[in-house]
Amino acid sequence: RMHVTEMLSGIQLPGHLHTPESLQYAKEFQFREGDVLIISYPKSGTTWIQEILTLIYSQGDPAIATSVPNWMRAPWLEHTYFKTTVKDEEGPRFITSHLSSDILAPALQNSKAKVIYVVRNSKDVAVSFYYFHKMAKFMPNFESFSEFLEHFLQGKVYYGSWFDHVKGWYSQKANLDMFIISYEDLYKDLRRSIKRLCGFLGCPMYSKEVDKVEHHCKFAVMSQNVMVNYTLIPQEILDHEQSKFMRKGVVGDWKNHLTDEQNENFDKMYKEKMSGCDLQIVWNV
Ligand code: PPS
Repeated sequence: RMHVTEMLSGIQLPGHLHTPESLQYAKEFQFREGDVLIISYPKSGTTWIQEILTLIYSQGDPAIATSVPNWMRAPWLEHTYFKTTVKDEEGPRFITSHLSSDILAPALQNSKAKVIYVVRNSKDVAVSFYYFHKMAKFMPNFESFSEFLEHFLQGKVYYGSWFDHVKGWYSQKANLDMFIISYEDLYKDLRRSIKRLCGFLGCPMYSKEVDKVEHHCKFAVMSQNVMVNYTLIPQEILDHEQSKFMRKGVVGDWKNHLTDEQNENFDKMYKEKMSGCDLQIVWNV
């Protein structure tokens, strides 16, 4: 394991991708009109939204989606390579981030950037994140799912607490030009989700173009696209034999992982942590 930790406002981040300089750059970054931010807690559907946006802006033509890696098309604001990847020239820019609202919302409030916040059932996030820890050699090692789950519920994992991330961004709803979409929305009705995103982005599309976007953003197609399935990353960094990045792509896999006791405990924690937050999402689709 090669994991080194970087800290930002008490939150641990993988040192493999973050440095004090890259985090400083992210904090001071000037957003501009035309910027579209994809913000999420890890494992919530980030890559899916990156792909959908790429295809919407290409009118369904897969040329870019199948020739440019997702992290070049929509680079992570906080990652080391961001400075040299972000576009200088005019035009829309896609920028991805897993940072919290405490850090980013002030700069976003003073800009005309659009924000798409993707949220996913925290139980499915926990499962997906657990498998990601197995495959990503820059993440800490957990002996078992139950050990990981305890850390996850306490927020003692890289990227911090799911609850704080979601509550924090949700509380910015009225302050930002923000669209909240869930993984479950995408899963239940991809076509409708694409159309809603088009509406938010102000990108009208013909029905035939929507067909193409929908096709290329299906799990079966995306998991074969090397520009988004992370197989371009060397095995020493992401071990695809441990788990695939495009692992299962379903809603409700938590039911195969949480015991009744763990589930009850999770529900209790959820109630406690999310009290006062009126975020309403139908998790079971
Ligand atoms: S990351 O590392 O934060 O960028 O990960 P992220 O992309 O947010 O989440 C990865 C999970 O999203 C699933 N995924 C999809 N599901 C259904 N359909 C499509 N098209 C799709 N694309 C990505 C991916 O499989 C991961 O979830 P799990 O549950 O592990 O399969």
